[in-house]
Amino acid sequence: MPIDKKYIDHFIQVSSKAALASSYLVGKKDKIAADQAAVDSMRSELNKIDMNGEIVIGEGSLDEAPMLYTGEILGNKKGPKFDIAVDPLEGTNFVANNLPGAISVIAIAEKGNLFNAPETYMNKIATGKVEKGLVDLDNPLKKNISNLADFMNKDITSITACVMDRPRHQKIIKELQELKVNIKLITDGDVLGALYVSQPKYNVDIFLGIGGGPEGVLAASALDTYDCYFQGRFIFDNDKDINDAKLMGITDLNKKYELNEIIKGDSIFCATGITSGDVLSGIKIDNDNYTSETLVTHKSSNYKESIKKTTPIKK
Ligand code: FBP
Repeated sequence: MPIDKKYIDHFIQVSSKAALASSYLVGKKDKIAADQAAVDSMRSELNKIDMNGEIVIGEGSLDEAPMLYTGEILGNKKGPKFDIAVDPLEGTNFVANNLPGAISVIAIAEKGNLFNAPETYMNKIATGKVEKGLVDLDNPLKKNISNLADFMNKDITSITACVMDRPRHQKIIKELQELKVNIKLITDGDVLGALYVSQPKYNVDIFLGIGGGPEGVLAASALDTYDCYFQGRFIFDNDKDINDAKLMGITDLNKKYELNEIIKGDSIFCATGITSGDVLSGIKIDNDNYTSETLVTHKSSNYKESIKKTTPIKK
């Protein structure tokens, strides 16, 4: 069953309010307080909604996080059952240091349709719409790039690849450099990193590399409406993660997940800018009002828009 369009406004409100709450901590060098402000706001707004929502991706397990923990039921229990994935503050460094690109993110799917991702790293690859197999986590990098270049009718040297600047990506970055691919290095924030492939205006053809698993699921939920390609493989490299994965019912620890195994059916995705970046403007406060910009997708209505709203702060 499609998710009623009325929920779009509700979830824009949720991510906008969380972004506003976090925006007061921009440049205060306090990642934890900035995250907590977004978490508190998101939880309280979610509880106002007519739904029976369950957090499948949140702040961790109940013993790690008292709010927005995996399994927490939110909403007034008077509406449909949803799976909810949240990252109330994606880019804690960005807010702490007043850098571009911090966002507040939420994704909703019908109950049972959003992958309950473990809190591990994920190796990810994302592109615009391509056939399965054109790019693949098991292909050599050169093959992925040349397949994509052929498909896009471009020279390899005109391809742009977005990668997070991490020591673990040294090999990828060196290989891209040798191939003379244009590299867009990001310091954090790989939800937006992956989303760059969704529209030509961002000028990124492929997103590659290892980042948070939950961030991978959030990105995939938006990429679904853009009809993009996404593949991810969780990385289980210690006993605790391997054990947790088994408890979650993951039997094949090496499995590559295609987008339609991560998110199924209808969904809504909202990402609101906290600090301004190249995808979203940040929160602007003017007297008693604040202006927010939210990227919204709704799969069943093929709705994908950036929505700017000015709202009284005390509403
Ligand atoms: P936070 O907002 O939780 O700080 O995460 C930012 C982020 O850059 C994510 O976008 C990314 O998936 C993850 O951290 C990468 O983790 P690490 O910094 O350990 O490489």
